[in-house]
Amino acid sequence: MKNIENAKWIKHPLVYVDRVIEFSKNFAANGAVASATLEITSLGIYEAKINGKRVGDFIFAPGWTSYNKRLQVDTYDVTDMVKTNNHIQVGVAPGWRGNYVAQPFHYGGDYIGAKEVALICALEIVYKNGETQVVYSGSDWRARQSKTRYSNIYNGYIYDSEYLDMKPKKAVEFPHPTKILIDRQGEKAVEVERVAAKELIITPKGETVIDFGQNLTGYVEFKIIGKAGEMVTIRHAEVLDAAGNFYTDNLRGAKAEAVFICNGKQQTFKPAFNFYGFRYICLDGFSDEIKPENFTAIVVHSEMKRTGYFECSDSRINKLFSNIIWGQKGNFLDVPTDCPQRDERLGWTGDAQVFVKTAAYNYDVERFFIKWLADLRADQTQWGTIPHVIPDVFGTDNECSSAWADAATVCPWQMYLSYANKEILSDSLHSMKEYISFIESRLRDGIWKDGWHFGDWLNLDASDDTDCSKGTDKELIATAFFIYSSEILIKAMKVLGEDSEKYENLRNESIAAFRRDYMKNGRIIPEKETQTACTVALHFGITDDAKETASQLNELVTECGHIKTGFVGTPYVMHALSDNGYGKTAYDLLLREEYPSWLFSVKMGATTIWEHWDSLREDGSMWNTSMNSFNHYAYGSVGDWLYGVAAGINPVESAPGYEKIVFSPLTDERLDYVKASYESRKGLIKSEWVRENGKIKYTFIVPEESTAVAYIGGKEIALKSGVNEITD
Ligand code: BGC
Repeated sequence: MKNIENAKWIKHPLVYVDRVIEFSKNFAANGAVASATLEITSLGIYEAKINGKRVGDFIFAPGWTSYNKRLQVDTYDVTDMVKTNNHIQVGVAPGWRGNYVAQPFHYGGDYIGAKEVALICALEIVYKNGETQVVYSGSDWRARQSKTRYSNIYNGYIYDSEYLDMKPKKAVEFPHPTKILIDRQGEKAVEVERVAAKELIITPKGETVIDFGQNLTGYVEFKIIGKAGEMVTIRHAEVLDAAGNFYTDNLRGAKAEAVFICNGKQQTFKPAFNFYGFRYICLDGFSDEIKPENFTAIVVHSEMKRTGYFECSDSRINKLFSNIIWGQKGNFLDVPTDCPQRDERLGWTGDAQVFVKTAAYNYDVERFFIKWLADLRADQTQWGTIPHVIPDVFGTDNECSSAWADAATVCPWQMYLSYANKEILSDSLHSMKEYISFIESRLRDGIWKDGWHFGDWLNLDASDDTDCSKGTDKELIATAFFIYSSEILIKAMKVLGEDSEKYENLRNESIAAFRRDYMKNGRIIPEKETQTACTVALHFGITDDAKETASQLNELVTECGHIKTGFVGTPYVMHALSDNGYGKTAYDLLLREEYPSWLFSVKMGATTIWEHWDSLREDGSMWNTSMNSFNHYAYGSVGDWLYGVAAGINPVESAPGYEKIVFSPLTDERLDYVKASYESRKGLIKSEWVRENGKIKYTFIVPEESTAVAYIGGKEIALKSGVNEITD
């Protein structure tokens, strides 16, 4: 950033909270231009044009941050766009800032400072003679309402191609801090791929519906020759109901509609500034014949490089894997969200924490998390608590939920493991300590007492399903997560050369307390016994008798024959089993097709990961309407087991970033082969196992810069760089 801090914030003189405002200015370049640079950001999301041409090719700029504290500025080289006489025009929509208008109950009031959209920018022209001119946003700009008559991320979009604001106004300057401006830190959001319409359906109710065959996040582009003034509406839905009708109850307060008013000519529309989570669209008001080939879904998400691939001999698992990938695509749109469709789409910390390990295999998410974690630190409260959602739109609180707030430790640590990023550890260290100190203030005899927690959210232990947080004891979970997070803090301190003794003592006290209050003879006591309780005791290294705890977990799974865990247990239950000698039980869970299981959703035709084990039931009914997303990545966290256990590709803490790799694939007789690859910073890693003539042939590819070992049949085998083939 160079000039933008000297520019003025401008807005329309009237108050429009749900419109797109177009700001514009004419300016001349007085000489031969050597370079031109535009620095720009907005309250809301912007699209800039110079002389009618779009600046840049990404969307939803400047992205979503904790706006009161950090607002990203984009810098563009616009040398080729500047002529002698120029017109700059910037449309600004409310974007994420507008959500509090649609869903005030979610938002802690006017959290972003100003209700209206606003712009700040500086365009610097350097002439070949060395002179410089800067065009700043200020009261010499014009502001008018655009053809977009309504824009709200949850509710949708209204575009009137015939509207013309006859009364452009002088923009007004207003005070808003510039010290919050930062250079862009996160990935850009982009249009990534296009999905053709698959089928035109007339539902039993007579609705005209197009099926894209894939639940996705984005919007629909379509061609139309409507009559002048004809109003057409596209509604969005993830599923059809039991009768095959268009179903939107699970979107709750989000209307998710895109409305277009035609001008009588051939037009191509897509709703800028808005996104939807959908597989189906319902078309209303079209006078023309509907041709599916005129409709294309555009998939949008943050620009992340795909790094991980997985395939095996069971096509159902391959579909599950594809659903995990689509879950990430759908929910990595500038911040890691719970879901992309209903009136939520928020940066829920728990969901991000649960999925981060899988996410870091699938895609290169380092930059994505660097930005989000900076917002997490910015929004951490004076008490050390971590808000439930980042950016924090709920308002600060001196309480926070275990397993959600632990995103503060788990996510930076994963960035360190996957990318050897020490900086993120040092940037996060203070925040980790503050969070741990907050918990310390709540510890009574080593147990995290009296907190408020989401618990093992959506688990199947609770006898009734009205309170999703019942089931495993919440203080047990909270204490286990304290033990886990303090272990991460201790490891981070060691990496950074700090003395961690104080935290080691705290952690040890809580381990002793956990064993004292919740365990007997290596087993979770009967009153607290659940799959999740055993899982955390094992996976977080709390039990002093892993053999016994694992046997208890195995019993709990095999007795009922299925998974019962929620957000807390699900990411680890497979590891807790397979790390402790119950690999077959883990595979039983993976390969089970009946409810509840991962493959149940696959059997039911899912194309993304569901929020509930039974979001859609066998009879076509739904879990309920209040909280039923069909694109919730959390249970997709089983992906890290596919990469790390079934294929066995693992980074090593002592040499992170895959400088050292451990291959420890776990075979199962029900699979004929497993293949996975991961494009690490050190190079391409591959792990394959395939049955050949009654034996298993393993192939491992090790990047030149890495060292690696494989564990096969209980033996450690040193690997060389390049291709290694071992038959067992
Ligand atoms: C979200 C979750 C989130 C939860 C908190 C829900 O409404 O969609 O995924 O973590 O609230 O328990």
